[in-house]
Amino acid sequence: MQLSEDMPFRAMRKTWQPVGLSRDLPVGQVLRYTLLDEELAVARFEDGLLATRDACPHKGMRLSCAYMERGELVCAYHGWRFARDGRCTGVPSLPDPPRHLLDRASLDTFAVRERYGIIWVRLDDEEAAPLPDIPEFEGHDGWQYLVAEPMPFRCGFRREIENYLDMTHFAFAHRTTLGAAADTVLPELKITRLADGFQMEAPFPAVRTPGVTPSKLQRAHFRRQRCYLPNFTTIRQTFEDGDERMLVHIPSPNTRETCTVFWALAQPEGFRGPRLEEQLAFSTKVLEEDRYMCENQVPREVPINPARGGWGVLVAPGDTLANTFQKAFRRFVLEALAEEEAAA
Ligand code: FES
Ligand SMILES: [Fe+2]
Repeated sequence: MQLSEDMPFRAMRKTWQPVGLSRDLPVGQVLRYTLLDEELAVARFEDGLLATRDACPHKGMRLSCAYMERGELVCAYHGWRFARDGRCTGVPSLPDPPRHLLDRASLDTFAVRERYGIIWVRLDDEEAAPLPDIPEFEGHDGWQYLVAEPMPFRCGFRREIENYLDMTHFAFAHRTTLGAAADTVLPELKITRLADGFQMEAPFPAVRTPGVTPSKLQRAHFRRQRCYLPNFTTIRQTFEDGDERMLVHIPSPNTRETCTVFWALAQPEGFRGPRLEEQLAFSTKVLEEDRYMCENQVPREVPINPARGGWGVLVAPGDTLANTFQKAFRRFVLEALAEEEAAA
């Protein structure tokens, strides 16, 4: 079946997507974020979060410009006041506003929650996929976890996912970082389809005697990549000394041609190598190399339908995983929209 290019975002409105980091939104502050083409304001009250459209119901002033006063969100323009549940609680120019006016002035709110140091919003009432449970990101068994600075990419989120799953770019795109020991020949990939996504297991394609001595993070290891649809992907690395490390990437779609990559690192206490904080500069450099590749591919987003002369025609063995994602994602979109499409 041919999908239309608007269907991915419609389906993803039913999923939890990152809009900011918990540490960047203290009580009394408001953040602005564009999620799936929807401009949002997210405010932190004493007792929780409010996610709403970034437009005041009065004259459309951005609520991300609003301020917090006496536990309420106050529009910067004419001072209309809003409670955490979105109710309008006051209009300064109308000292005694009738109930029905206040009701009409209440905000449209979205489901919002916090987990893994990240603030997540779901735009649709219906949930097509839960947030994955990753105990290692919540301190289980002494694991340490560090959320990095989110990185904006000028490309569609599916470009970033394909890049994160790509196994044949290490020796080229990362020749100065990860590529120190990378082999251009692909090891055998074991791909398992799962109800909520898929998993790939394979050795990192590393040569035994590289020209330089690779550091721990560049060295041969075993990789298990787990993609939870639509866009939450972890990599679990097992090094030859038995040490383990995990990474997660969630490219949160801003528009069809831009996304923000939320990412984090985790490793158990006693990891024989650099501490998480010490890995940040290296990992950021690797991600910047990936960003360069993602931002310089045309078109900016992978078409949702495989096309002649475009994506999916020239398939190298290394593209199997990207194609697995695209197929699984198409299925996810169709399933998430099945009811809507049937009703239309
Ligand atoms: S635009 Fe918000 S109070 Fe007027
Ligand atoms: Fe990469």
